[in-house]
Amino acid sequence: MLISIVVGSSRHNSQSAKVAQYLSTLVRVKQSIHSVKELLPKLWDNEAFHSLKDQDIAQSEVFSEELNKADAFIFVIPEWHGMVPPAMKNLFVAFGKEFSHKPALLVSVSSGLGGAYPIAELRMSSYKNSRICYIPDHAIVRQVEQVLNTPESENENDTRIRDRLGYSVKVLEEYAKAFQSIRQSGVIDLAAYPTGM
Ligand SMILES: Cc1cc2nc3c(=O)[nH]c(=O)nc-3n(C[C@H](O)[C@H](O)[C@H](O)COP(=O)(O)O)c2cc1C
Repeated sequence: MLISIVVGSSRHNSQSAKVAQYLSTLVRVKQSIHSVKELLPKLWDNEAFHSLKDQDIAQSEVFSEELNKADAFIFVIPEWHGMVPPAMKNLFVAFGKEFSHKPALLVSVSSGLGGAYPIAELRMSSYKNSRICYIPDHAIVRQVEQVLNTPESENENDTRIRDRLGYSVKVLEEYAKAFQSIRQSGVIDLAAYPTGM
């Protein structure tokens, strides 16, 4: 079983990458970590897409295979202007079947007391054609600069979010096991129903 962690921030040394590193210590099965910048450096542009160089197309096929191998995802999403960063939404334009009928844990990140909007945004959209299945539990890492900085917890808030993340990852791992049988059931027919309604 493989869990793929996707960092939704395209900033260098982002706090979301820090949170993703911490999450990687909690995952007890095989895992991979990718950032949206690495998966898809360019924003979707229909004209540019038709003139992409062979090496760009080959690269995106490599990442398509990578994402295909995953049984579940953890998306670590910063709140930018009350929204999901465009590079993250871009992922659902460029990829789709790779996420199909796989559970995902949403972890949002805020330097202040925000972080609810990216959760609401991804729960409301992004699943229609990709058929990604967000599990009911999610986590919001608020005042992110003050937590997850050291191997041991530094304060009460740090402990609380570490416990919450640990619990959420365990729940995701159980969903990941259970969802394998849905994908293997033979019921899923993306050829007949490539998009949701
Ligand atoms: C363009 C931009 C917009 C932001 N808007 C918000 C916001 O609306 N709400 C919020 O809580 N934090 C906001 N932040 C702060 C982020 O929460 C902060 O940068 C945090 O470290 C997570 O982003 P990162 O993973 O890119 O570091 C914003 C940051 C950037 C770069």
